[in-house]
Amino acid sequence: MYSGLVHAHSGLRWVALILLVAAVATAFGRWQSRNAFTESNRKLYLFTLIAVHTQLLIGLVLYFISPKVDFGMMSDKLYRFYTVEHLVGMLIAIALVTVGYSRSKRLTDAADKHKAVAIFMGIGLLIILASIPWPFRIPGAGWF
Ligand code: HEM
Repeated sequence: MYSGLVHAHSGLRWVALILLVAAVATAFGRWQSRNAFTESNRKLYLFTLIAVHTQLLIGLVLYFISPKVDFGMMSDKLYRFYTVEHLVGMLIAIALVTVGYSRSKRLTDAADKHKAVAIFMGIGLLIILASIPWPFRIPGAGWF
């Protein structure tokens, strides 16, 4: 089960990243050109939220079973990354993505709705990019 979850969590990063880039680009463009808020925009923003929350769920399970999470090994860069940095960065980012989605849902003006997604999901995307264990940064991490 552990290996399956790591593969799912690792591969799903690409789904989450593609959806986040599409959502932020769409939201930014439609905010700037004051375009309408369409049903397909709503679906794109919703699927982005779902992808990121799915990562949160799998990540939470991994946090309790992964050998790379160990509070007794905090002097080691690799353990510190998974035990603290990856967790904290991703929790902040996922909170921002969630705030962007729910603010946008509450607002009524189309430009304001897109603006909330563009800003909150945009900052969330940057934090996610910085918190992913990329193979060139974290030994043993994979691309998929
Ligand atoms: C959008 C959010 C997230 C993304 C894109 C993401 C992405 C990744 C990636 C790419 C890996 C490396 C897998 C590999 O070695 O190939 C990983 C590992 C891990 N993630 Fe996340 N993650 C996210 C959120 C979280 C959260 C919120 C938690 C904890 C609550 C978490 C816990 C972990 C743990 C414990 C590992 C190490 C698994 C292992 O190799 O033993 N992740 N994550």
